[in-house]
Amino acid sequence: MTTRAFTLAALVAVATLGACETAKAPLVASGPVTFTRHIAPLLQRHCQECHRPESVAPFPLLTYDDAASRRAKIRKAVAARKMPPWKAVPGYGEFADVRRLSDEEIALVTRWVHDGAPEGDPRDLPPPRKFRTGWALGRPGAVLAMTKPFTIPARTRDIYRCFAVPITIPGEWRFIRASEVLPGNRKVVHHVQTFLDVTGRSVELDRGDGYPCFGGPGFETQGGLGGWTPGFQPLEIPSGVAWGIPPGARLVMQVHYNNPGDAVETDLTRVGLHFTSGPFDRRLNRVRASAWNFSIPAGAPRSSVVATAVVQDELLALSVHGHMHLLGREMRVTARFPDGTRQPLLHIDDWDFEWQLLYSFKRPMALPSGTVIEAECVYDNSADNPNNPSSPPRVVRSGFETTDEMCQANVLGTMRLTRR
Ligand code: HEC
Repeated sequence: MTTRAFTLAALVAVATLGACETAKAPLVASGPVTFTRHIAPLLQRHCQECHRPESVAPFPLLTYDDAASRRAKIRKAVAARKMPPWKAVPGYGEFADVRRLSDEEIALVTRWVHDGAPEGDPRDLPPPRKFRTGWALGRPGAVLAMTKPFTIPARTRDIYRCFAVPITIPGEWRFIRASEVLPGNRKVVHHVQTFLDVTGRSVELDRGDGYPCFGGPGFETQGGLGGWTPGFQPLEIPSGVAWGIPPGARLVMQVHYNNPGDAVETDLTRVGLHFTSGPFDRRLNRVRASAWNFSIPAGAPRSSVVATAVVQDELLALSVHGHMHLLGREMRVTARFPDGTRQPLLHIDDWDFEWQLLYSFKRPMALPSGTVIEAECVYDNSADNPNNPSSPPRVVRSGFETTDEMCQANVLGTMRLTRR
């Protein structure tokens, strides 16, 4: 039985970063850099989506005290570009809603901390940023939900749980123009992916309270209905594009939970669907380059694997996503066009398993038939890699478990509907 880890047709919905209505910090700081004038707007814009009490980060960054008491950590995380989480190296692929601090913003934070974190004039403080709690795309036509809340014990990490949800919407094929995943409890939901199951396997696996599913949902999937990571907006499918739910399909939600807190939490995540009746002349498609049957020598600090896939029908690419496990260090995704020219799609030089984002292109990119998608994955299987799950290092093979590795790139786009 083959499973597919992170079938990212699914992640179609986590495309663009939420439009941020907060004011921009004045970048050129003449005079002292203060919290109220410079740092508060920056935190609103780039950090509070996650760093607020009801969201995923372990501490809030709302008030002066929140920030001042953690100033050394903040400076370090920001200077190392660990925060905010955004892994795409600039210059490789042009993305929408880049979540990356400018050099000037990093300099502001550094100067503020260096100068002793002055608070400044309270009158400079911008009004608090408002966060949406409900559906971003308005009331859905139908809502699919986990059948009952799932309990996440205190102080637990990396629970990957799948929940099988029946789709009780009448009709044969049902077509949607958008799908929105709404996490039930943002404190513990790190990310969500969804998969469509037409095999019936998920019903056997889920005995009522979900089932563990680190490497994938446990069946060959038929795409999905989008996903969710903090701060990213659901994608609305371009008009004229069909996104179909096959007859008899079930929805499987894979939820990654972290609960660093001292309290037991519960979650009930939902998916809202927005229907459309067409007309369609394109459909969503995903081209996946995935390498199998490789092994990574024990102790090797740098070994690479290449995966390729050929685009069969012209694809208008919307987004790109890379996937490796814990030993991953670097990934490059490149399009090799039939005329021999190359176009970088994505470069990640500091892989972080925790933050596998979907990068949406600023403009759809035409990949003609015959284009080769090439993913180069670089791994560090040495004892010096703090993320190495094995000590001492052992030979690691391709597979779906945490201690296996994967090398996969998914390019999602639309293609012309053909009669086949
Ligand atoms: C997309 C969500 C998200 C955004 C945006 C975000 N953070 Fe975080 N941050 C987290 C999470 C989750 C953690 C806990 C560690 C982890 O999972 O990586 C964290 C951890 C941290 C830490 C602790 C790091 C350590 O090594 O202990 C600091 C400091 C931090 N964030 C600062 C910031 C600042 C400053 C910003 C904005 C410039 C920011 N974060 C933006 C989610 C986010």
